[in-house]
Amino acid sequence: MEDALRYADDHQDRFTGELEELLRIPSISTDPEYADDVQQAANWLASHLRSVGLAGVEVCQTDGHPIVYGEDLRAGEEAPTVLVYGHYDVQPPDPLELWDSPPFEPTRQNGDGHAEAIYARGACDDKGQMFMHVKAAESYLAADGEGGALPVNLKFLIEGEEESGSVHLAPFIEDHKDRLDADVVLISDTGMFAEGVPSITYGLRGLAYVEVTLTGPERDLHSGLFGGAVENPANALARLIAGLHDADHRVAVEGFYDDVQDLTDEERQTFQKLPFDEADWREEISLKESKTEAGYGVLEAVGARPTLDVNGLASGYQGEGAKTVLPAKASAKISCRLVPDQTPDDIAAKLERYFEKHVPSTMRLEFERLHGGQPALIDTESDAMQAAADAMEGVYGRRPFFTREGGTIPVVADFKNLLGLDTVLMGFGLESDAIHSPNEHFGLGRFREGIQSIIRFHQRYAERR
Ligand code: BES
Ligand code: ZN
Repeated sequence: MEDALRYADDHQDRFTGELEELLRIPSISTDPEYADDVQQAANWLASHLRSVGLAGVEVCQTDGHPIVYGEDLRAGEEAPTVLVYGHYDVQPPDPLELWDSPPFEPTRQNGDGHAEAIYARGACDDKGQMFMHVKAAESYLAADGEGGALPVNLKFLIEGEEESGSVHLAPFIEDHKDRLDADVVLISDTGMFAEGVPSITYGLRGLAYVEVTLTGPERDLHSGLFGGAVENPANALARLIAGLHDADHRVAVEGFYDDVQDLTDEERQTFQKLPFDEADWREEISLKESKTEAGYGVLEAVGARPTLDVNGLASGYQGEGAKTVLPAKASAKISCRLVPDQTPDDIAAKLERYFEKHVPSTMRLEFERLHGGQPALIDTESDAMQAAADAMEGVYGRRPFFTREGGTIPVVADFKNLLGLDTVLMGFGLESDAIHSPNEHFGLGRFREGIQSIIRFHQRYAERR
């Protein structure tokens, strides 16, 4: 392990340069225009996996974007097997005009008061974090001249559709159960508490995403000729949306909280002890005041409580100036973040019932389910979790906190349900990295610490088992 740690540090600059090559490929999975780029990123990654010495490397075509697979099983049957998951696709970079440098031309900058970082779409989420795993494997393989020095068997499963809902991933896992057989899943696609303050995520929220459309008249109307006698879909949709929360900022959909597992006293105490400063947090996003479900603090509300948010709202005239129109339609994209034991299907059904019950008799309702994902909670006492804590402690000189985060990685629940595998979420992102936003970046210091932590994890996990 010491050789691998040293090798990684000695080759950090080359690693960074290689990551920049991958960041130049605009692998935007949601937009069909970029399908060739997504394929190109998969090919680049596969040839890179081959070049670091992994075996069985394959670009597996699916009905959507390809999945890249590679492995090294030379540690043998006595050693445990770690399945590394990551994604090489990225979110669209819009709005482009808010980027200080082009999103697919990685640049190194010093953020104000921050360490040197790479700015590019995907720098943190998840090309940068996924690539740390490739470089950790390379460091083991290259540091030992024989190329057989990994303490664990490694399998890489890197997909290209995470940012568009991982729709073809679960069927792929089901079709390749034997090939993906492992002892644990390791993912770096989450955050850490703060620069120099490591944390391991033991809970993720799920997601239920729907789109609702109300249609009144069959065309947009003159609001002077018709207004007063035709009910306005925009007015009605606003009323329905307003009814989705109560005064305590709780979701007012019938049965919404039925399956929610409450936070345990122990968890609430742990949340209390985290070094979180609400004023700093507000300042980072220029927010006047926070607003949480009554009785819960900010960290609890974003990590361990379910929510409902409008993600998009469309109706009527959106251009410059005024237009006196009574719109024919109004629509909203709405998503709920879920916690155990809520399920996307059940919550979507409850939302549908809410809209069916409240839609005015003057209009027609369309309700469409977009994508979803199950929430996850992971036991923190397992060998793998403790090995991850040991590994991060080795790098940061302090024991990581265990936290719950509000984002969603749908495959975590799939790994549990389809393969019976627990996942270790060892993340190195910061909220200030601006994932999904303009000027996404990833600190080079954290890129290095991530590689070091992963190298230590493999060794520690092999020892603990
Ligand atoms: N890496 C994120 C998820 C994440 C971010 C988890 C920060 C914890 C902390 C992931 O790439 C992502 O954005 N997922 C989507 C999932 C959706 C498209 C199904 C999300 O959470 O919105
Ligand atoms: Zn993401």
